[in-house]
Amino acid sequence: MSEKLKPAARVSGRRQDVWTIINEAAAASPKQPIINMGQGFFGYNPPGFILNAATEALHRVECNQYSPTRGRPRLLQALSDAYSPHWGRTLDPQTEITVTTGANEGPYRPAGMLSAFMAFVEPGDEVIVFEPFFDQYISNIEMPGGKIVYVPMHPPKDGASKTVSAGEWAIDFDELERAITPRTKMLVLNTPHNPIGKVFSREELQKIADLCLKHKIIILSDEVYDRLFYTPFTRIATLSPEVEQITLTVGSAGKNFYATGWRVGWLIGPPALLQYVSAAHTRICYSSPSPLQEACAIGFEQAAAQDFWNQCIADMQAKMARFNAIWDELGVPYSVPEGGYFVMVNLAKVRLPRDYPFPPHVAERPRDFKLAWFLIQELGVAAIPPSEFYTDARATTVEDYLRFAVCKEDAVLEDAKERLRGLTAFLSG
Ligand SMILES: Cc1ncc(COP(=O)(O)O)c(C=O)c1O
Repeated sequence: MSEKLKPAARVSGRRQDVWTIINEAAAASPKQPIINMGQGFFGYNPPGFILNAATEALHRVECNQYSPTRGRPRLLQALSDAYSPHWGRTLDPQTEITVTTGANEGPYRPAGMLSAFMAFVEPGDEVIVFEPFFDQYISNIEMPGGKIVYVPMHPPKDGASKTVSAGEWAIDFDELERAITPRTKMLVLNTPHNPIGKVFSREELQKIADLCLKHKIIILSDEVYDRLFYTPFTRIATLSPEVEQITLTVGSAGKNFYATGWRVGWLIGPPALLQYVSAAHTRICYSSPSPLQEACAIGFEQAAAQDFWNQCIADMQAKMARFNAIWDELGVPYSVPEGGYFVMVNLAKVRLPRDYPFPPHVAERPRDFKLAWFLIQELGVAAIPPSEFYTDARATTVEDYLRFAVCKEDAVLEDAKERLRGLTAFLSG
């Protein structure tokens, strides 16, 4: 290929990603149709009051045209009303909130976190990311030339033998402090956490915040699962006025309203920081989808009256309990999620047949890729190998785990459980 036609390194030369491998495994499986518990999309629709709002918005002339780049005034006001009680003061919709195209606003789906990195990261600046990480952070940080510094979250020591709380995945705070250099510009936090299901405790958040204050590091707190917590949930921005001044909080209508395809998200933060995120967003996306912003505004306005947020928690907790019953039945340990809709299951007990015909690009990956391939071929259930959310150096840390998404219809969860009973034949004592 002519040199000039070559793609830029930032989008080429990567090995096959996990999503491609899982889709390929699904296509090759004799157990059709596959039950997809891998990706975190919802298997059901947003509630009626939000769908109606979207339908009505589509019929309004002004809702089909550009919105202000910072977001539609009605959504900004609704977000201020929804979030202010958590902050304990009124958030200014004009200066402290900006709407983005999804929380990620990443390269594969153009705005939120990408805009934050674009706003603050210069080539060579360092950004601390905890492992495991939501995979899109990486390309979003690399895009403006940032260098990622990884700090591990350590799995529970007895995770292969006992079901324990996801809260037991832990940060070593000395290790975190050692990762900080004069070039550390930002730290990315995710709570409730994907894929672990951990909700960081107030004490843990305070330690992170103290380090960030000491070293003047911006905290980007990805709180897209903020309406799905099963243990007390603290927002790091609310720890103190000082912490608030260095924190950008990320939210997602996709996760809040079961509408990941709508691509509406937002960032909340002090005007001194947020103005630059808005400026980057304007350059990346200009503005975000108008009718769906309007629908989200109405969604927030009506959510409390519909008791929607409590219902979200009750429904997802019930799904978690329903699905995880299979692991209790099989005697397979897992990390009991404190938030979100993912569960990490430890499948160390599964004996993979020695001569199993894994394709070469799966055979060379850590054991979790083989487990995922095996489950799809033998049982027709898809899950995600979490080593994809680690750097190569630490990929084996989670090679016995698979991540399952429970945001599916109850009947689908029951079908998955029935198929997973087939694991009995492959379990060691
Ligand atoms: C931790 C985390 N952050 C951000 C996102 C992306 O959110 P959005 O779909 O609003 O871009 C996801 C989606 O899976 C996620 O798991």
